[in-house]
Amino acid sequence: MRPPARASEQLFIRSAAIVVAAGSGERLGAGRPKAFVPLAGRPLVAWSLDAIASAGVPRAIVAVPPGHGPAAEEALAAAGGDFPGGFVLVEGGETRSASVRNALAAAGADVEAVAVHDAARPMVPAELFVATLEALAEADAAIAAARMTDTIKEAGDDHVVVRTHDRSRLWAIQTPQAFRADVLRRALDVAPEVLAQATDDAWLVERAGGTVRVVESSPANFKVTTPHDLALAERLLC
Ligand code: CTP
Ligand code: MG
Repeated sequence: MRPPARASEQLFIRSAAIVVAAGSGERLGAGRPKAFVPLAGRPLVAWSLDAIASAGVPRAIVAVPPGHGPAAEEALAAAGGDFPGGFVLVEGGETRSASVRNALAAAGADVEAVAVHDAARPMVPAELFVATLEALAEADAAIAAARMTDTIKEAGDDHVVVRTHDRSRLWAIQTPQAFRADVLRRALDVAPEVLAQATDDAWLVERAGGTVRVVESSPANFKVTTPHDLALAERLLC
């Protein structure tokens, strides 16, 4: 693993990963929270925790569904990750942003940078945690993103195309999303209606006028949403 560059070394040493794993997984329909569904013999969330531990991120905080303590403990035992700065489980909230907020509250005042990651992206490479945290040397937030490969057209309600977008400037946003901890704290301190509108945390930083950089990632870091996605991840990992 390439160590972080000197400029961002201090930020990396004082970093934590927040793994949001508190969703119910309605669209997967596995009858239990998505984070605990088996993938290639291990709970889905364990794959992300492995990547975070191998990246050398010292601390991890996982937001789990309320009432799933034992399943969470079991999933984490399977992860086998080593987090010298500590490993904390917190209860998630009603929305993804509320889960991030609960986890951030448990991060500790000495944490200067956080990388927020969806448990639902088990294919994440360890390097992406280093790259996003490192990019914070020049931004308030640094987010993993894949270049668009499809042509993107905009159509009206009548399905008639009104324009074709310039693909070279479009990115499909993923996680991890790294933030300076104070920036994320302030960005999340907004009215519940605003939080409910946020489809990602970086948008909250954008609307507050912060600088958000994209860090190029691969489409292979896809989100497991449907049974098809789970089957694809299984094939790739076995
Ligand atoms: N998440 C969370 N807390 C919530 C909702 C979502 O921590 N209240 C997490 C999920 O566990 C997941 C990530 O946010 O890792 C992305 O959400 P998504 O893929 O939508 O997962 P679910 O909400 O579980 O799935 P669904 O929307 O199909 O119910
Ligand atoms: Mg959801």
